[in-house]
Amino acid sequence: MKALILVGGFGTRLRPLTLSVPKPLVDFANKPMILHQIEALKEIGVTEVVLAINYQPEVMLNFLKEFEAKLGIKITCSQETEPLGTAGPLALARDKLIDDCGEPFFVLNSDVISEYPLKEMIQFHKAHGGEASIMVTKVDEPSKYGVVVMEESTGKVERFVEKPKIFVGNKINAGIYLLNPSVLDRIELRPTSIEKEVFPKIAADKQLYAMVLPGFWMDIGQPRDYITGLRLYLDSLRKKSSSRLASGPHVVGNVLVDETAKIGEGCLIGPDVAIGPGCVVESGVRLSRCTVMRGVRIKKHACISSSIIGWHSTVGQWARVENMTILGEDVHVCDEIYSNGGVVLPHKEIKSSILKPEIVM
Ligand code: GDD
Ligand code: MG
Repeated sequence: MKALILVGGFGTRLRPLTLSVPKPLVDFANKPMILHQIEALKEIGVTEVVLAINYQPEVMLNFLKEFEAKLGIKITCSQETEPLGTAGPLALARDKLIDDCGEPFFVLNSDVISEYPLKEMIQFHKAHGGEASIMVTKVDEPSKYGVVVMEESTGKVERFVEKPKIFVGNKINAGIYLLNPSVLDRIELRPTSIEKEVFPKIAADKQLYAMVLPGFWMDIGQPRDYITGLRLYLDSLRKKSSSRLASGPHVVGNVLVDETAKIGEGCLIGPDVAIGPGCVVESGVRLSRCTVMRGVRIKKHACISSSIIGWHSTVGQWARVENMTILGEDVHVCDEIYSNGGVVLPHKEIKSSILKPEIVM
């Protein structure tokens, strides 16, 4: 079985992290977002993953070569010369997606995180016999997603409306699809939106079915959602394999610490924290609701909450970093600095406090 992951787009909403790597390579819960997906696909027997990409393919491929061998799965690129949207890339990769048996293939948005119930999705797809299946989930704020109106008992989709201006329902497209090869006959090789141009037509032909996703889901393509996504992910990890979470007197709630990270005396860490490989957290540090990426050093008595600390940054002694502060790669926050929602571009040194949310160039 094959799968295509849509990894185009510039990830502007996740800057400054995406100034260093393409969005799918931004770490989430201590590994690149896309690895969560590739591992889930591998687990249900997918043998080849096609990355539909429109910029920096070398960065992506170099990185993933290592995992190709480790995971025993073939990873190839299908590169666009102009952005083809969310459907055009399927037409471009047509030959890679079709196999002799006419099997359906998966398509995934690269920035969604969930428990990936892909096995259940295959069963659902076989049972309804339509051309396409999509996963849906309920949200409180549906207007920033694709909204699906479906027949509850069968899952048959009546309407698909991308980013509706008026309320049509609260079940939204989760960005996980299972499609028959015949769907490719509906897509031309030009910039096309699968949400606006393809799904509404398949729905009109009564060939589109939606399955309500069991478990959590989040699009982590924006900082606030990324931080919420980590909370949901760690909650789910607690239920499924709690031994992977940290424990001890210095831990509150769900905390993930890479085995190569060092934590000093007298720290208080959690809830909802991820500490990446090679990090050094000195004594007396307080961390909550935050991600600390690979190679970061947090100096004594610093306090960080609701923030993301990018790769190889340092946070000084007694510094206070909070309220959606996002530090890009290799940022250095000096001792005793306060950051209230600062968004700091890579390679900066912060010598004076950031008192209100702003971008520091
Ligand atoms: N190859 C390629 N080329 N990929 C692209 C392009 C392109 O031109 N444009 C976007 N993508 C990729 C993005 O990298 C992402 O993985 C996926 O397509 C969806 O694009 P987003 O920019 O993240 O869209 P969205 O979050 O506003 O909305 C989409 O996701 C929602 C769920 O998170 C839609 O599919 C909505 O219907 C859905 O509800
Ligand atoms: Mg998105």
